[in-house]
Amino acid sequence: MNREDFEILNQEEKLIYFDNSATTLKPKQVVDSVVDYYTKYTANAHRGDYDNSLKVDMEYEGVRDKVQKLLHNRSRKEIVFTSGATASLNMIVFGFMKYQLKEGDEVLLTKAEHASNILPWVTLAKEIGIIIRYIPLENHLVTVENVEKMITPNTKVISIAHVTNVLGDERPITEIGELCSKNEIYFVVDGSQSVPHMTVDVEKQNIDFLAFSAHKMLGPTGVGVLYGKEELLERLEPTSLGGGMNASFDSEGEIEYKALPSRLEAGTPNIAGVIGLGSAIDYLLSIGFDRIHDHELELKKYAVEALEKIPNIILYNKELENGMIAFNIDGVFSQDTAVYLNHYHICVRAGNHCAKILKEDLQVKNTCRISFYLYNTKEEIDELIRVLKNSEDIFKVVL
Ligand SMILES: Cc1ncc(COP(=O)(O)O)c(C=O)c1O
Repeated sequence: MNREDFEILNQEEKLIYFDNSATTLKPKQVVDSVVDYYTKYTANAHRGDYDNSLKVDMEYEGVRDKVQKLLHNRSRKEIVFTSGATASLNMIVFGFMKYQLKEGDEVLLTKAEHASNILPWVTLAKEIGIIIRYIPLENHLVTVENVEKMITPNTKVISIAHVTNVLGDERPITEIGELCSKNEIYFVVDGSQSVPHMTVDVEKQNIDFLAFSAHKMLGPTGVGVLYGKEELLERLEPTSLGGGMNASFDSEGEIEYKALPSRLEAGTPNIAGVIGLGSAIDYLLSIGFDRIHDHELELKKYAVEALEKIPNIILYNKELENGMIAFNIDGVFSQDTAVYLNHYHICVRAGNHCAKILKEDLQVKNTCRISFYLYNTKEEIDELIRVLKNSEDIFKVVL
């Protein structure tokens, strides 16, 4: 759907873009909003008293309202703009958890998490002695029962992706959120792969902190969101200090911070990026997440049916209801498959997808990943199938 809005899909050289979990294409509405800022009203944010600067403030702060509408949270103060999900997760760990947790406190993760939701925790464990425990996966999936079994009186945090980036499995977030609020556990959700594809309601789902990136939801790179409940963000220490976040400071070293959310947005923000994120949210909401999700499911069903008929294709997540397909060609290194597909202008991701310890559970080191979005079509899948059916010539192409 809406392919006419994506200039990159309408070039002479055909492009089949199936790598939407890595980043998505950008519609002209998003690109135009960024170009407008740079060509029609460039100014810094929160610093000027002239017309363009006031327009920037209005546009920039307007996006905070749009994010609030997207997440269904209580207050615009709970929305902090960051450089992306990675930055948001690092702020949660090093700005909040570092001061709230103590030696022996337990943090529950899974082995299917992205590096951005594991490495900060591992580093904090080395710094202050928290204990990381991995929730056992059931056929690679998180179950409420397994989460419940792992909770002890020392469990202080559960930090997991809403949807993973290797298999695309959706976690039972609402039920886990209930468990967290019942047991006074902080619930951190990595929404990088869910916010772009489905309705997220941080209030109903009892989410304490949520992180996501604009570039996976039609927006620009280098911008993302940290959501946190207001009373928690009030206790989050700024991990970055400078202009824009202080109310005053003096030569004695006295610093007074501004109120939320400015307190957590030091320095000149990615103004163009935030404005582009606002356009992306408008664009997605005008289509509706139900339509996007249904479209992705239909494409996956269509692709899986065809892929199953090709004898040497191994599928790892065909039964999961999402827009992601993890596969390999039997006996072929996943990167060779990706290079082969690239020869036909088909973009897929190959490797371990930054979830480096999932391989212990999946028993396979690398996979190819197809990830669909709203602009993908069945005709593109037909082309993929045609190319994969002829894959006996793969080494002629790759070598
Ligand atoms: C599940 C998940 N978490 C976190 C990230 C990190 O996002 P970013 O690189 O935009 O900060 C990604 C990106 O691939 C992801 O898929």
